Amino acid sequence: MNIGIDKFGLAIPEYFLDIRDLAVARNENANKFLKGLLQLEMSVSPVTQDIVTLGAAAAHEFLTEEDRKKIDMVIIGTETGVDQSKSASVFIHNLLGIQPFARCVEIKEACYGATAGLDFAKNHIEKNPDSYVLLIAADIAKYGIETSGESTQGSGSCAMLIKKDPEILILNNDNICQTRDIMDFWRPNYSAYPYVDGHFSTKQYLECLETTWAEYCRRTGKKLEDFTAFCFHLPFPKLGLKGLNSLFDKNINREVKDTLLENFHTSITYSRRIGNIYTGSLYLGLISLLENSETLKPDDNIAFFSYGSGAVCEIFTGTLAKNFKENVNSHRLETFQNRKKLSVSEYEKMFFEEITVDEEGNCSFNPDESLFSLERIENHKRIYKKNCK
Ligand code: HMG
Repeated sequence: MNIGIDKFGLAIPEYFLDIRDLAVARNENANKFLKGLLQLEMSVSPVTQDIVTLGAAAAHEFLTEEDRKKIDMVIIGTETGVDQSKSASVFIHNLLGIQPFARCVEIKEACYGATAGLDFAKNHIEKNPDSYVLLIAADIAKYGIETSGESTQGSGSCAMLIKKDPEILILNNDNICQTRDIMDFWRPNYSAYPYVDGHFSTKQYLECLETTWAEYCRRTGKKLEDFTAFCFHLPFPKLGLKGLNSLFDKNINREVKDTLLENFHTSITYSRRIGNIYTGSLYLGLISLLENSETLKPDDNIAFFSYGSGAVCEIFTGTLAKNFKENVNSHRLETFQNRKKLSVSEYEKMFFEEITVDEEGNCSFNPDESLFSLERIENHKRIYKKNCK
């Protein structure tokens, strides 16, 4: 049975910061961010947009009434959850009007959570072939003002419908994972922002890629030449490029190398404009690739490298379905023009606004007309508003 991604959606907040403005404010040479990280812009979310509202909006893009009836599992991968106890997918299940007899869970392992979710979804459908699973990857990546990671922040969500006979990507059964107990990036419960050992983290990312890829090739007998594209977790796009370059050996066929590089650059189009969205960033790369490539064809094979600090990584692969091109939104980039550009001081105020509740646990916010928004907190309960059907 073929199982995989049947539809996908993307939600980003309506505000962004130009990375050149950040460079000026931080007294950095803009080329450090533009060329050194390959970053152009960063998506900035107001306090009324969180992983619930972004996750719901990403899924709302494609859900039909039939999907709502057939989905029996909603998985969210995130490391910026809104509650230590209740899963964000329970809120999303309600906001989207999905039938009640469903399982809703949240998975955490840094930027890797949604990839674990993808495998759980596949296993669930293997046992229940008529089930649909809604998989959401949503995060708001904040390192803090004047930190080394500030220029790589971002926020957004990718949602995917996973089912049998998918219209976009068929998942293969060749996943290889690796776990290393390291402290490259982590966020203790008492801290609003992560701690990061930046250069150590990039070294670990690249080493995990190299060793997991070697194991993948050893177990499957496959090589780079078997793939048309390679999508990477993109904490910042330049790291993915370094990763891809590290896999080329001197005997690589020139044409294969050029194709992989061309597709890589297509896959970072959205990340360059959005920033790191942690669990979603690998899937943002896939969406960017499929929506903007003019050369990819049905049956092309795509490899994926998922990496979550801490660290767990996975290499897996998929094959493009026959009608994938008709099932993706080739005009999405035009919608990026509708975003509002913020000044650095507006960004600092908006992105780092903290929620303060009164003694009764209440707080209200300025109205937000997005599809879904956090309207208020009442007696410590988050109350969401739906501005759509
Ligand atoms: P830094 O140390 O300030 O920057 O921050 P740098 O000095 O390493 O410079 C960055 C690049 O810009 C370098 O390129 C410079 O040469 C270049 P490289 O040598 O590496 O190729 N550069 C210039 N290029 C052109 N013109 C110039 C110029 N100046 C410098 N004028 C660091 C870099 C990665 C440490 C920082 O961005 C950071 O802390 N980021 C956050 C951590 C991160 O993203 N780690 C990635 C791996 S871990 C991961 O992927 C997991 C994660 O997503 C979290 C999760 O799993 O939940 C982060």
